[in-house]
Amino acid sequence: MRSSSHSREGSAGYWEKFAQEDPYTYILTSLKSNDPGEFWESGRQTVQQELLPTIATHRVSRGVAMEIGCGVGRLVFPLSSHFQEVVGADIAESMIQRAQCFASDNGIGNVSFCAVAGPEDLLHRAKNCSGRIDFLYSLLVLQHIPDMAVIEGYLHVIGVLLAEDGIAYLQFDTRPENFAYHVKTWMPDILLPRFWRKGIRRIRRHPEEIELAIRRAGLEIAGELTRLTSYHRYIVRRAPKAVAS
Ligand SMILES: C[S@@+](CC[C@H](N)C(=O)[O-])C[C@H]1O[C@@H](n2cnc3c(N)ncnc32)[C@H](O)[C@@H]1O
Repeated sequence: MRSSSHSREGSAGYWEKFAQEDPYTYILTSLKSNDPGEFWESGRQTVQQELLPTIATHRVSRGVAMEIGCGVGRLVFPLSSHFQEVVGADIAESMIQRAQCFASDNGIGNVSFCAVAGPEDLLHRAKNCSGRIDFLYSLLVLQHIPDMAVIEGYLHVIGVLLAEDGIAYLQFDTRPENFAYHVKTWMPDILLPRFWRKGIRRIRRHPEEIELAIRRAGLEIAGELTRLTSYHRYIVRRAPKAVAS
């Protein structure tokens, strides 16, 4: 796996600040108000309308699920009633602490959370999960990671953690880059609205670049949804090992 210096010092610094300042609106920038009820309801709906149908279509076993970039557990908690165990990993310790508090306050025992410095750390911390994850998902996370090497690192880890017949459900922003996007990207933060600033801005990627990285990680694409949008999702699984002739 390629290592990268883009770890805690990069994303984690921003996300630690976001978690302390205003976690709900930084996690879900489309929130109309800072209403926790609306925030948790959005997670419940995503699980009901998006994750569970995907899980059913691909006949995913309901053993262990894992989220990369779980935030405060908006999706982990509603998913936990459908799996034996759900594990959430995130780069920001304050997000993880909030998720742990929510789990203990609400007596939810089949979830666990860990703060990770990046893909290599996740691989190390989750080594007991190697080949055991039935459903791995990451929504609204990879779109914020500026360094492709970090994404490649996570794809490699996904290849190690997924069960033989497990799937991963991964969201990217693959809208084509246009002039306005380049201008926004190069403008200093001070001139930009807060959700366009570094750390929280969405980074557009070419599908070809993502697909190459998926294949390099020993994974194959089993499906995709809404290509070339801000909410492009890939369904990936472990590629069958080539048989020597
Ligand atoms: C927009 S929030 C989404 C949280 C959650 N997936 C949800 O939909 O509610 C993005 C999360 O990704 C985490 N994150 C950002 N960069 C990360 C990285 N390199 N590794 C792991 N988590 C990361 C942030 O700390 C934050 O909690």
